[in-house]
Amino acid sequence: MADIDPYAYENLCSLPTREKVTLFNKNDKLFHVIFAEQFDRELLETLCRLATKTRAISKSMDGSNFLRSLLRHKSAMLYFTQPSTRTFLSFVRACQHLGIVYAEVRDPRISSALKGESDIDGIRTFSSYFDLIIMRHHESGLAERIAFMMNDIHRSIPVISGGAGADQHPTQALLDIYTLIRSFEKREGGIDGLHVAMVGDVKRGRTVRSLSKLLTNFNDIKITFVSPDEFKIKDDLRHVLAARGVEFSETDDVADVLESADAIYMTRIQDEYDESPGESRSVDYSKCHLTLEKVQYMKDSAIIMHPLPRRNELDPRIDWDKRAMYWRQERNGMWMRAAIMAYLFNVDAKILEYYQDNYL
Ligand code: NCD
Repeated sequence: MADIDPYAYENLCSLPTREKVTLFNKNDKLFHVIFAEQFDRELLETLCRLATKTRAISKSMDGSNFLRSLLRHKSAMLYFTQPSTRTFLSFVRACQHLGIVYAEVRDPRISSALKGESDIDGIRTFSSYFDLIIMRHHESGLAERIAFMMNDIHRSIPVISGGAGADQHPTQALLDIYTLIRSFEKREGGIDGLHVAMVGDVKRGRTVRSLSKLLTNFNDIKITFVSPDEFKIKDDLRHVLAARGVEFSETDDVADVLESADAIYMTRIQDEYDESPGESRSVDYSKCHLTLEKVQYMKDSAIIMHPLPRRNELDPRIDWDKRAMYWRQERNGMWMRAAIMAYLFNVDAKILEYYQDNYL
């Protein structure tokens, strides 16, 4: 890709995401992690197996020493200019599990951004010192643009998006798929044929958008989007689902899915993206709340997920219900993120071999 002008990126913006996927590969292998569209079923299942083996190995002293020896020569820059607790910390811990050293910039006011430096130049600077950039930014196209630029510079390093505005959150979707696969591992057909309900601000919830796209890789998935009218999914997602043959419907009341859903994926109102002050406050969200009373109607085998943080859409008393999966979901995120980094840095085969030699 040496002859692509990074500032010609605008010309590519209008391409459908699926057509951009190969731009983010290197030697036909995933290099940057920017979109859910980069993952097919085979890669998803590979990463889930890798995450499970990595976490099993980490449980012993010898195993965790082995993991920490794998990427001691690598470094990561965490550039998170939007608020984050789980994504940031799970990446930090995932780096530590693999021996990756890391640094962080979370407040652009203490970086050269204040001197008028552009994000592009600032992030390009990271590539002089680090081997990986993990970034979260309010501008939805920035990670994509940076990744595109990385392809064309002398010291090209991978970019992982930890959340791109209201558009996508690919690593959250990976850990959500990992959670679904683990939760339904004993079910005949695994996650094929599941009915997944996505509840809340499904218009601006980037986790919902990315997870819906990943679910299109599985068979006979049915999705119901539950939201107030003001926060219904956007047409682009409707088109993706229709083009991939996924059955989906929309409603405004979570009561409609309680009895049939296998997984209820709760989300909060994304009011940081309000276009006018108080926009979200005027919306009645109560039919999108999951209460102790409502969970009684759910299947015994169903699970409740939430990317967190939560507000009042998910009653904390539900945490003691065996179907509540969100705390395990966030833990799964750390192992999935370790798996992604192991995969990008090509130490996945070493992990599988260690597992084979010591655990089978
Ligand atoms: C989500 C996000 O940042 O999009 N959080 C997370 O990464 N676990 C969900 C949210 O903020 O509502």
